[in-house]
Amino acid sequence: PAPLVVAIDGPSGSGKSSVSRAVARSLGLAYLDTGAMYRAATWWCVDQGVALTDTGAVADAVRALPLVMGVDPQDPTVVVGGTDVTAAIRETAVSAAVSAVATNLDVRAELGRLQRAAIDAERAAGSFSGGRGIVAEGRDITTVVAPDADVRVLLTASEEARLARRALDVHGTADAEAVEATRDQVLRRDADDSTVVEFHTAADGVVTVDSSHLDFQETVDAVLAVVAAST
Ligand code: C5P
Repeated sequence: PAPLVVAIDGPSGSGKSSVSRAVARSLGLAYLDTGAMYRAATWWCVDQGVALTDTGAVADAVRALPLVMGVDPQDPTVVVGGTDVTAAIRETAVSAAVSAVATNLDVRAELGRLQRAAIDAERAAGSFSGGRGIVAEGRDITTVVAPDADVRVLLTASEEARLARRALDVHGTADAEAVEATRDQVLRRDADDSTVVEFHTAADGVVTVDSSHLDFQETVDAVLAVVAAST
């Protein structure tokens, strides 16, 4: 079969990562979590003792980032300088600091270059599965990193649905208290990220899937339907 590149963008709590992984598994494609790359860059800067306010030092550190992204959707690992940081990059300290790194335009240029290289490599030769191609997800994949992707999806959800999902992820419950505890983190990060990338409205040719009233499997099926319709 012809290679297939699927680009999926969306805000935090849209279910982007788990949906993209399931879509990649279903299609037998590689999976690239570009948010994990910004998180890994943030972890690395902190590990190296770089002040996140020093934009030049952050850019220099990220240009030297010894990053290995595992692209198997069954087990997407993130390794920095030989250390497995897959779990560490999900910690609150990294989530709280990541926008400072991701809004650095030199960092975006460098990580965007690595992301395009990974996508091109999977398009040319599937690295672990039968099929050639990849599902890449983030904030600017449909617009900046892979505007030429075969399929481009913006995965959205209402603020209410996104906060409830994030609360469930982080606190194991979506009661009022847990939602309030995640509100500031989710909305502030999206507001900060929005200063450099647009991921709330779909660009030309990008199909919007609104998951507010869909469960997980329904959302995966909706994205697979977009893939089927456009290939
Ligand atoms: O998707 P996730 O929440 O893990 O992304 C973490 C952070 O990485 C985002 O808050 C954003 O700052 C950054 N990011 C980005 N561009 C992407 C993917 C993620 O700026 N394509």
